[in-house]
Amino acid sequence: MEGFESCSYIEHGMVLDHCNRIRFCNNFNPRYGGRPVIYENYHGEKIDWNDFFRIKRELRQKYREGSCPELCRECVNTSFKNWDEEDYIDYLLLTPWVPCNSNCIYCDAPRDKEVLAHTKVYKVLPLIKDMIKNNILKKDGIIDFAGGEPTIYNEFESMLSEFIKHDFQKIIIHTNAIKRSGAIIKGLKKGVVRVLVSIDAGTKEIHKKVKQVNSYDSVWKHLSEYAKYQPKGGDYVKAKYIIVPGLNDTEEQINIWLEKCKSVNISHVVLNLDFNWLMKNVDSDLMPLYKLMKYTLNRSYELEMNCELYGQIFQVKCEVEKTREENIAGF
Ligand SMILES: C[S@@+](CC[C@H](N)C(=O)[O-])C[C@H]1O[C@@H](n2cnc3c(N)ncnc32)[C@H](O)[C@@H]1O
Repeated sequence: MEGFESCSYIEHGMVLDHCNRIRFCNNFNPRYGGRPVIYENYHGEKIDWNDFFRIKRELRQKYREGSCPELCRECVNTSFKNWDEEDYIDYLLLTPWVPCNSNCIYCDAPRDKEVLAHTKVYKVLPLIKDMIKNNILKKDGIIDFAGGEPTIYNEFESMLSEFIKHDFQKIIIHTNAIKRSGAIIKGLKKGVVRVLVSIDAGTKEIHKKVKQVNSYDSVWKHLSEYAKYQPKGGDYVKAKYIIVPGLNDTEEQINIWLEKCKSVNISHVVLNLDFNWLMKNVDSDLMPLYKLMKYTLNRSYELEMNCELYGQIFQVKCEVEKTREENIAGF
C-alpha cells in the first residue's frame, strides 16, 4: 500500500491562536512541544495565500520525506495513509481572543502574563470573508471556535452567521454556555452547529471549584435549551468533563455529571484531562486516571450514552495500553 505518515493539521489545518500567532495545529505534544507556527505577529492583515500555502507545503514535504519535525515527534495525531497534495484548509480553529466570563482553574489564558501582554485583539470577520471568497475553506471541513469565550466576543454572532449563511456544515463552538447565543440556536436548528460545553463536575460545589465563578445554573439552563434545538438523535450538543486530578477526579462526580446530562437529553459526552497536569506528570503513574477513564466509558454505556476521549485522556489510554492509534474523537 502506498502512503506515508502525516497529520491532518499539518496537511490542512490552520489555527488563529493567542499571542497573534497562526499555527498549523493546536495539539500539545507533551514531550516535544508540538503546535508548529505559520506566522508570528498576525494582526488581521490580508493574507497572501500563495505565501501561506508555500509555508504549509514546506512542512508537509518533511512528512513526505519521512522526517517528521522534532516538535511533532511521538505526537498521537499522525496516521499512515494516502494524503492528498492539494492546498486547502479543512480545519480552522478560531481562538485568537483571551477574555472570558469564566475562570477555569485549568485554563492558562486568563493568568498567563505572556498571553495577556502579547495578545492584541484584531478583526477576524474580514479574514473569514476573504477565506470564503478565495475558496480557501472546505465547506464540509471543520470550523472550530474557542478562546477565551467566543460568545462574549463582539464579532461572534456575525462570524457564526457568516459561516451559516455560506452553508458550512460543521461549526463547533467551544463555549462555557454562561451567555446564550441566538446564532448558536440558528445553527443548531439548521443542523450545522455543534456545541461543546465543559462542565467539569457533577455538583454545583465542585463546578464552582473548577470554574471559580457561579455558573452552574445558567450553564445547565442554556445547555438544556441548546439540546432542545439539536436535530433528532443528535450529537450536536455535547457536555465535556476535564479531569483535574485532586479536584474532580472521582467516580461520584462523573456519575452525577453523566446522569444530569442524560436528564436534559444530552447523550454524547466528552472526557478529557487537564493538559497542563499531563505535561508535568507524563512519566507518573497514570493507572488511576486510566481506571477513571474506563469507569466513565462503562457508566456511559450503561446509561446508553456515547463517551468520546479527547486528546490528553486519549494520550493516557495510549500510554497505559502502550498503543498508538489515530484518535477520531470530535469529528
Ligand atoms: C481555552 S478554551 C475556552 C473556550 C470556551 N470558553 C469554553 O469554555 O469552552 C477551549 C477549550 O480548551 C479546553 N481547555 C482549556 N484549558 C484546558 C486544559 N488545561 N486542559 C484541557 N482542556 C483545556 C476548554 O475546556 C475548552 O473546551
